[in-house]
Amino acid sequence: MEDLDALRGELTASINGAADLDALEAVRVAALGRKGSVTGLMKSLGQLDPSERKAAGQAFNALKDEIAEAIEARKKTLSESGLDARLAEEQVDVTLPARPERSGSIHPISQTIDEVISIFGEMGFTVAEGPDIEEDWYNFTALNIPPDHPARQEHDTFYLNAEKGDSRMVLRTHTSPVQIRTMQAKKPPIRIIVPGRTYRCDHDATHSPMFHQVEALVVDESTHMGHLKGCLIEFCRTFFGVEDLPVRFRPSYFPFTEPSAEVDIGCSREGGSLKIGAGADWLEILGSGMVNPKVLENCGIDSTRYQGFAFGIGIERLAMLKYGIPDLRTFYDSDIRWLDHFGFKPLDVPSLVGRALA
Ligand code: PHE
Repeated sequence: MEDLDALRGELTASINGAADLDALEAVRVAALGRKGSVTGLMKSLGQLDPSERKAAGQAFNALKDEIAEAIEARKKTLSESGLDARLAEEQVDVTLPARPERSGSIHPISQTIDEVISIFGEMGFTVAEGPDIEEDWYNFTALNIPPDHPARQEHDTFYLNAEKGDSRMVLRTHTSPVQIRTMQAKKPPIRIIVPGRTYRCDHDATHSPMFHQVEALVVDESTHMGHLKGCLIEFCRTFFGVEDLPVRFRPSYFPFTEPSAEVDIGCSREGGSLKIGAGADWLEILGSGMVNPKVLENCGIDSTRYQGFAFGIGIERLAMLKYGIPDLRTFYDSDIRWLDHFGFKPLDVPSLVGRALA
């Protein structure tokens, strides 16, 4: 039994002295392995006198369990301190300055929105915003699209389960509901643009289920179609940087404007490449019109005194045309190589300084 105590003392000292997991494993093999000292004791039981065997067996087993437990305990301590050491070693200093060689870039959508805001800002528009999850009434009914109106089908609406009143909430299908919110909130004169996300259940090379629009709304006593045309011609020419860019107004239909017009800009496709400017072709870029008097009345604005114009522009389309981006889906791929190619420098802030508005 004295031998046993000596062995216990020896093994416990080696276990507690093991500096890392490898050293501890070596101690384990030396004690409990096939040729280990404790295993050797168990094997020696057979040579003992049968009268001693029972007591010795119990003592050996107790030692074996004790050593195994001590090894487990030491293992736990070593792994915890190992983790602490690793955490200390791999600490990241989040306060370090960004690495200049890896500076980020501005997404073409953000850049295009900034450009549009800077042009309309110069004309005296202010920016308004509204919720992406919208009530049916704001997205449709107040815009003169009642529940059974065929125009609802064209919008490929995403409906939510949540109900507000009698109808389900929707992901706004256009930025036009912000027209309604603005007219409810303030009296004319109104002159706002509304950049924001819009949603339709549609996905191919030219459609994405989430896309961006910029809405514009002007309401005043003497607002007329000439203002709409002048404003849009000015915008198109400044945005594309083409002074004599042809801009065409084509009669169209929207329930919330009367009369309505779709707007095309001139382009040419000679030699397979698209060029914005005077040419044989036209490209549609936005929808517009004079605010339907019913919409003004829905917002409590006297339509015999006030008139307005509105338009909605697709931001992705503007960006694709201006920067030669062929596939709309790539905007949302989060491909860093694409962003390196089409992205903008963070300090490349759009401004009209040095580019006089004609
Ligand atoms: N909301 C229309 C659309 O998404 C665009 C539009 C806005 C047309 C304002 C006329 C006036 O298609």
